[in-house]
Amino acid sequence: MAGASQPHCPGGHQQLTDSSPAGRRHHRQSADTDTFTTNHLGPFTLTESLIPHLPDGANVVFTCSAVEDPQRKPAVTAGFRGGRYISAEASARGEWQPGGSSKPGYDAYATSKQCNLATVLALAREVPRLRFIGVEPGFNPGTGLGRDASPALQFLAKYVLAPLAPMVKYWSTPKRAARMITKVLTSESHQSGAYYDENGKPMLGSVQVRDAEFSDRVVAETRALLAKVSDETL
Ligand SMILES: NC(=O)c1ccc[n+]([C@@H]2O[C@H](COP(=O)([O-])OP(=O)(O)OC[C@H]3O[C@@H](n4cnc5c(N)ncnc54)[C@H](OP(=O)(O)O)[C@@H]3O)[C@@H](O)[C@H]2O)c1
Repeated sequence: MAGASQPHCPGGHQQLTDSSPAGRRHHRQSADTDTFTTNHLGPFTLTESLIPHLPDGANVVFTCSAVEDPQRKPAVTAGFRGGRYISAEASARGEWQPGGSSKPGYDAYATSKQCNLATVLALAREVPRLRFIGVEPGFNPGTGLGRDASPALQFLAKYVLAPLAPMVKYWSTPKRAARMITKVLTSESHQSGAYYDENGKPMLGSVQVRDAEFSDRVVAETRALLAKVSDETL
């Protein structure tokens, strides 16, 4: 089963139409909330719902991203400052640890992807009968992830950067990424809690996400948030 996270463009939501500062803040927070909900809360809920029905030894693969790691140089160069998690509730309100990215949406995206990896690592300890695995598909220019970027940037990504991807370290193409993810998803030899790079080689997440206390807290707070939302909507 692929508990793959749905993306939201890290550089997206930049075209704010409301000119008032309060309106701008509202739009920004609402876009960040969407990112966190789509990328983390959705796959988390799906996974928790399916766990009781999966057979022993099933693989559960989350599509993560190395932008969660503040020590990942290419991501930092692109403007990311790693995951900026305060709490699940704060994330759902679009609030991040101070000192983050100057680019709109980047902290929301990086934090949501850090939560994907935290989920893999925490569930691997909590549910030993299944195998939870994270993959970093590599930077794939030209996918729909940049759908909200300017037309010029989208053109550049699709027709200039994408053809170069096979030659550049940390980059990939949808075809290569799909091959790697399929291999990971169908293999029976993984350690639960493993994390693979764009070439299917083991890699490490950020120092923060590897802290078991942190990943357990992300999972516990996510469950509490979902329970609260569910109670409030009943
Ligand atoms: N591209 C990269 O460089 C890169 C790097 C590292 C990790 N990743 C991760 O790889 C995964 C795939 O990214 P991608 O580049 O292939 O992105 P993509 O081209 O934007 O594709 C994402 C897919 O998710 C769907 N989706 C987006 N928001 C949704 C929502 N709110 N509800 C339901 N479906 C939604 C999209 O549907 P529509 O087509 O209908 O919009 C699309 O089919 C993501 O988890 C992303 O974080 C990507």
